[in-house]
Amino acid sequence: MEERLLMVPGPTNLSKRVREVLSQPQVGHTDPDFAKNFSETLQLARKAFRNNNGYQFVFTGTGTVGMEAAVAATVEAGDKVLVLNTGYFGQRMVDINRCYGAHVEELGSGFGMHADPDAVGKMLAGGPFKALYVTHVDTGTTVCNPIADIVKEAKNAGVLAIVDGVCSVGGIELDFDKMGADLAFAGSQKALAAPPGAVLVAVSKEFLAQLEAKKDRIRTYYANLLRWKGVMDDPKTYFATPAVQLMQALNQALKEVDEEGLDNRWSRHRSNAKTIRDGIEGTKSKLVVEKGYRADTVTGIWTEPGAAPAIQRSLREEHGIDVARGLGENNTKMLRVGHFGNLTEKQARFFVDAFAAAKKTP
Ligand SMILES: Cc1ncc(COP(=O)(O)O)c(C=O)c1O
Repeated sequence: MEERLLMVPGPTNLSKRVREVLSQPQVGHTDPDFAKNFSETLQLARKAFRNNNGYQFVFTGTGTVGMEAAVAATVEAGDKVLVLNTGYFGQRMVDINRCYGAHVEELGSGFGMHADPDAVGKMLAGGPFKALYVTHVDTGTTVCNPIADIVKEAKNAGVLAIVDGVCSVGGIELDFDKMGADLAFAGSQKALAAPPGAVLVAVSKEFLAQLEAKKDRIRTYYANLLRWKGVMDDPKTYFATPAVQLMQALNQALKEVDEEGLDNRWSRHRSNAKTIRDGIEGTKSKLVVEKGYRADTVTGIWTEPGAAPAIQRSLREEHGIDVARGLGENNTKMLRVGHFGNLTEKQARFFVDAFAAAKKTP
């Protein structure tokens, strides 16, 4: 099948080397070579988060499993938490917290609006809260929250800071050690440019100690980080069979992140995002998010009412580019364009030309 330019907000096009890894013969998860490969993956994952001081987990499961692992590690029934509900995935964090019996307070924002750190600080002052949950980039609205300032507010208030970095890690600055968050997680399928299905979780040393003290009070089986810790300490240990090929592919993708260098990767994402946003605005189409809070990994575009399906079809059929539509009520009036992973400047420009040429009316 001819390769299409995948510009949905995840998954993304895989490099040739990653695809080659996926087609290797099956090996067992207890194979010493696999264990060695996985140990290297953990070190590379640390680098992708800039997590030198904390503890690193990688296991099979999508970003949502990372969300569950984070909530199960943080709350016990009745705990009061603050969720910054800046979109679809903020809402999912609210729902998961409720599943685990937390008393959830939400700080909402208008569609496509960011969370304001001052408002967060004020809300936290009315606590006590056990934890604050923030989505770095909400893929539903395409807003990028000022993560470092928000985490600072949580730390000042003595509240656990939990960051959903699914749509940012590897593409937008998220420096785990410097930021001082307690836990951050990412998915494999976005800016890290691996196939979907692996979750990467960074936790601070202090948070790990709290977790170890909690032991039996973590109310989940598969998403219990403590159960996974044995595997991270010694990858030959069995807890649940990892998706072997996926883990090997993630290893290769993370090597490519490392080869490029995180700073260079962030700056490539910044520059491609600018090319794409400028190109879209050049067609008089409106971006969903206000300047200053637009993500460098995904862009939301308002279309004429009802026109999103036609533009999506035109991009797909006439230009070989796949983009996504808005979620829920925005399904026919919003497009979401992913621009992360291995996307080159040439591909960013190709998208801009295709978007300009695409049919804009329903
Ligand atoms: C910000 C964010 N958080 C969480 C998720 C959930 O990840 P998954 O779909 O891999 O379960 C996504 C998925 O797009 C996401 O964008």
